[in-house]
Amino acid sequence: MRKAIVFAGVAAVAAGCATMQDEAAYREQAVAWMKRDFHARGMAKTDRLNQDELQRACTQYNNNPPEALVKRVEAAEMAGIKLPADGKYLGDWKRGQRIASSGRGMTWSDKPGAAGGSCYNCHQLSPQQPSFGTIGPSLRGYGKTRGYTAENRKYVYQRIYNSKAFSMCSTMPRFGHSGTLNEQQIKDVAAYLMDPASPVNQ
Ligand code: HEC
Repeated sequence: MRKAIVFAGVAAVAAGCATMQDEAAYREQAVAWMKRDFHARGMAKTDRLNQDELQRACTQYNNNPPEALVKRVEAAEMAGIKLPADGKYLGDWKRGQRIASSGRGMTWSDKPGAAGGSCYNCHQLSPQQPSFGTIGPSLRGYGKTRGYTAENRKYVYQRIYNSKAFSMCSTMPRFGHSGTLNEQQIKDVAAYLMDPASPVNQ
């Protein structure tokens, strides 16, 4: 009886390994096909297909890496956040609204620096905008409900700059880290969330 249970356990572990190996092989094959079929054009280079250490670990551990690794990687991502030299985290909410609503950018026909934040793809923000995605939590009334504090202003800037510094396998893009948004653009979007006059807080 005991032997049978042990044997079943070994079989289950072996089956698990086979699946993981298959998955890794499929992934490698898929990337090889993309590298074969996608061609660099304009600002859309194929180096996007290469995962960095964080992305590789999130794939390998199915977005659930061991705690020690999470701590180490999140600390490294946090250390890489470049805070504004002038110590101000908020810009112009009106410009921020345009950036948050724009899903443009990063394709071969786009100019570098012309990217939007695609925030509405994943978040509700202003009640005036009827269409939004729900991959991320609603940010409606963000500043009003969280508090217009210095700490929250800094947090929002850091979150937009690199969400993975707070949640390693977050699906939210690392806008500052990847250079998708520059310092001023991040400040403007942060103001859209944190300025009392912004429609997000009405
Ligand atoms: C692909 C989806 C996606 C996009 C695009 C995205 N986010 Fe997020 N965001 C998330 C998810 C999911 C979370 C929840 C926490 C996590 O997983 O990191 C989140 C969390 C946040 C938080 C923290 C919320 C809290 O409770 O403190 C803020 C602030 C935020 N996002 C702002 C933005 C802004 C501003 C933009 C646009 C520049 C944006 N997000 C774009 C998915 C996204």
